[in-house]
Amino acid sequence: MTRRLEGRVAVVTGAAGGIGAASARRLSDEGASVVVVDLDHDGAREVAAGLPGPAVAVAADVSREEDVERYTRIAVETYGRLDLHHLNAGIVGPFAELPDMSAADFDHVVGVNLRGPFLGVRAAFRRYREQGGGGAIVLTASIASLRGSHDLLPYQASKHGALGVMRGAAMYGGPLGVRVNAVAPGLVPTGLFTAARDESGGGDDMTRRGTTVPLRRTGSPDEIASVVAFLLSDDAAYVHGEVVSVDGGAAIVSTVRPSGGAGAWDTAAVDSRAGNGSRAGNGSRAGNGGQAGSGGPAGSGGRTADDRRAEA
Ligand SMILES: NC(=O)c1ccc[n+]([C@@H]2O[C@H](COP(=O)([O-])OP(=O)(O)OC[C@H]3O[C@@H](n4cnc5c(N)ncnc54)[C@H](O)[C@@H]3O)[C@@H](O)[C@H]2O)c1
Repeated sequence: MTRRLEGRVAVVTGAAGGIGAASARRLSDEGASVVVVDLDHDGAREVAAGLPGPAVAVAADVSREEDVERYTRIAVETYGRLDLHHLNAGIVGPFAELPDMSAADFDHVVGVNLRGPFLGVRAAFRRYREQGGGGAIVLTASIASLRGSHDLLPYQASKHGALGVMRGAAMYGGPLGVRVNAVAPGLVPTGLFTAARDESGGGDDMTRRGTTVPLRRTGSPDEIASVVAFLLSDDAAYVHGEVVSVDGGAAIVSTVRPSGGAGAWDTAAVDSRAGNGSRAGNGSRAGNGGQAGSGGPAGSGGRTADDRRAEA
């Protein structure tokens, strides 16, 4: 392991969780002193205690201004300065069909996943201004920052918004020499879906969904952390305002091509779960269930001769 972050002070939020803990460990392995921030104080303390280098745990809610100011203050009081930020804390919120989503759930998810990064980058830039310079910032975005799904709409909206925060901060930080980037993980088994473990699309479903990814597997927190460490290091000195997907290729899939899985999903079942009875009927004819693998010519959408006759 290189010691390319020797002497740097790093904050990692959501650091009691899967990706955050891996990031804290990686930054520590590479020589940084780490401020381990999480809502879960016991978890944060446990992670901090297990790091090989200097570390301090802080209980904080990233959606609260006073908490963000407090972890920044503690970092500076403890280590004298602050160089690196991995703004990573996030929640998914409850699975729900769009008409059934509550505004309170929307506000909560957006509070943590969008307001949180805003408060985090603002505090970082305030600190960098005070100390006359800073290092680098990485936000944890998501494949949900780049692609659509409807069952986790608040999550999706907040993660799209996080990229807006990242790009705005990058425009501000560039002339100051402060780099701001994002990682966009795909499927990484962690505690993120604990509350929705049994749901279709929830935590228990990850391995099955992982088989649809080009690399045919889920990722690990360490595989995200190594990219975070790279982006925070001088090895990424000319990488700025970028979203780096770390998703086994999931974001490149064209779902309308047979090689991307077109026809593999039972859209009729998905649509009927959403209560779109009439559209489910159309979906089953156009998507034609699992018949894409029936040997039809590429681009036929897996339709049979009978289907084409029926459409004509
Ligand atoms: N796991 C995945 O498949 C995946 C995919 C894409 C993006 N992400 C993103 O990665 C980040 C880390 O998620 P994870 O998979 O490690 O999940 P996780 O649940 O294991 O960790 C998230 C951590 O954030 C903490 N947290 C939640 N709300 C907080 C708040 N208000 N203030 C401070 N801490 C808070 C939790 O206590 C937890 O320790 C999240 O932003 C998530 O959206 C995860």
